Amino acid sequence: MNKLKIVLYVFFVSLFMSSCTPTYLTSTSPDETLILEFDLDDEGKPWYQVTWNGTPIVKQSYLGFDLKDQAPLKGNFKVVGELRNTLNQTWEQPWGENKKVLDHHNELTVFLEEKDGAKRKMNIIFRLFNDGIGFRYEIPEQPNLKDFVIMNENTQFVLNDNHDAWWIWADYNTYEKLYNQTDVDSATWVATPVTFKTKDNLYISLHEAALTNYAGMTLKLDDNKKYTYNAALVPWSNGDKVRATAPMKTPWRTIQVGQKAADLVNSNIIVNLNEPSKIKDPSWIQPMQYLGIWWEFHIGTKEWKEGPRQGATTASAKKYIDFASENNIGGVVVEGWNSGWDKWGQKDAFDHITPAKGYDLEEVANYAQDKGVYLIMHNETGGDIPAYEKYMDEAFKLYEKLGIHALKTGYAGGIYPRGEHHHGQFMVNHYRKVVEKAAQHKIMLDAHEPIKPTGIRRTWPNMMTREGVRGMEWNGWSDGNPPNHTVTIPFTRMLGGPVDYTPGIFDVKYENNPNRVAWNTTAEIMNEARVHTTLVKQLALSIILYSPLQMAADLVENYEKEMKAFQFLSSSTADWDESKMLAGEIGEFAITARRTDKEWFLGAATDATGRAVSVSLDFLEPNKLYKATIYADAPGSTHLNEPTKYVITEKNVTSSEAMLIQMNAGGGTAIHFKILD
Ligand code: NOJ
Ligand code: CA
Repeated sequence: MNKLKIVLYVFFVSLFMSSCTPTYLTSTSPDETLILEFDLDDEGKPWYQVTWNGTPIVKQSYLGFDLKDQAPLKGNFKVVGELRNTLNQTWEQPWGENKKVLDHHNELTVFLEEKDGAKRKMNIIFRLFNDGIGFRYEIPEQPNLKDFVIMNENTQFVLNDNHDAWWIWADYNTYEKLYNQTDVDSATWVATPVTFKTKDNLYISLHEAALTNYAGMTLKLDDNKKYTYNAALVPWSNGDKVRATAPMKTPWRTIQVGQKAADLVNSNIIVNLNEPSKIKDPSWIQPMQYLGIWWEFHIGTKEWKEGPRQGATTASAKKYIDFASENNIGGVVVEGWNSGWDKWGQKDAFDHITPAKGYDLEEVANYAQDKGVYLIMHNETGGDIPAYEKYMDEAFKLYEKLGIHALKTGYAGGIYPRGEHHHGQFMVNHYRKVVEKAAQHKIMLDAHEPIKPTGIRRTWPNMMTREGVRGMEWNGWSDGNPPNHTVTIPFTRMLGGPVDYTPGIFDVKYENNPNRVAWNTTAEIMNEARVHTTLVKQLALSIILYSPLQMAADLVENYEKEMKAFQFLSSSTADWDESKMLAGEIGEFAITARRTDKEWFLGAATDATGRAVSVSLDFLEPNKLYKATIYADAPGSTHLNEPTKYVITEKNVTSSEAMLIQMNAGGGTAIHFKILD
């Protein structure tokens, strides 16, 4: 049972239900910096606005829905009641960036009812935390609204200026894009999370939490109204947005606010807005680092499909398992272990039960178990949902029988049935079905081509990690990810949750991997491809880009050549007691420290500009002497110049000192702090 430790719990309710409830209502964050105002306009249309210390964050913004075959649900309302709650509790995560999470918020529910006609009801629930706001709609059970189809959610976010924005284009099927940095005027249709910096140096992020049985939300800039984003839900193939039945609740719409970019990263709003765990005994859920038969496919030295260039063989899997068990790495993923890869792209291509020729599933599973290593299964679906749902149960039963507790899924390809989208309600529900089915079979999940993270890991802690980002694979067969990409992700995509970016490539120019064959691009692009960082930045990213299943993505033979650097990864973990981003600017640099028991690990990474940043070591335990093992780019090494050269030094430090963190261009620093006895 998930241990919910309530340190302090304050419950205060006041419920007024009367026809004379005022329409203008306000609520504040516990520290009173954030103020929410709610009102109805002359036509009974609901709106809200948010200020932070008097600065407008979201100005008068309307709320409501357009429905199919019935009148819109967005006006002619009266306020018939309000309900207020305060919660101040600390709960424990079974795994994560922080063991303990504080959930301190004030809640205001506004009860609305149409003044005449069908007198339909709609409630809006606001939760105000010190670092942001969440709100959601609730359609309660009622006589005149039962089954309905949302054609438009009319939620607005009216920003107060032409802020700087970091964003990716909205896309119904993928988040695998590079971030743009523009002003709001040019950020016309964006995916969430989207991040803004105001002229007063405040940081704002818009996103959603607890996306359940609903469509993913994108944000579209209004053609006529300045700096105004309207929710734009991803449709079903026939144009419906959400098919719903009352009673129902929408996901939370979230507005995070921070005085520093790092404040957005250190916030827990998204998990706090999700329901507590539904998994009573999560003891089988084990965060871990993992290796994999994987990178060789992306750089084209091996193939997924059976044949002479097949990557997954019984022998290759054993080699990875051996290396993992000898070096304190918890798991190994084997892609290409199953049959069907020769038909990738066709309907009914993949078989997630039958192993490929040359791969003895049972033998490998037993071998992994004997060596104390988790075998991570891989199910590429190619987007063929009917086929996957048909065999999922049987496949998961087999994995459970073989003692396999982890699975990476993939949805590379257009969705079947054709016309459905990766981010629409159809797929949101499919992804959840897989999470729930996996939980029944004690299987942890890592989803690629997923729906974006909205904190459901709190409710389903077997939903460990997901891609939903332009990850490492793009460095294998495209122009790759420029140096600023990985220092943008922590402030954008990762505000939703952990990311399976798959860092850890040491041989960043593939100098040890000749004979690469282009598999999904031209030979020219393939030959130019490389990882655009130094080796040390890869170590730093393993700390900065949190994933409870954290990959060390390079080939074992490349690690064997650099065991001194690998020491940083083998002494690290994928589960932390405490995490703090110490300093950072979006797309420029990030410095994050994480604690496991009494040891701290620090990752510092920069874009294409070298820099040195002084950080206080006051996160360390006072009055203790620590040995800091510092992994740094060699003098003069950058992502463009001798990127794999590094130096390891040791230094004794205490919490009362500051440390100058040196980051060469395209590089970084990784530090392991251990108390000296
Ligand atoms: C895309 C995934 O992101 C990648 O990790 C995987 O190797 C391929 N699809 C094949 O499933
Ligand atoms: Ca992918």
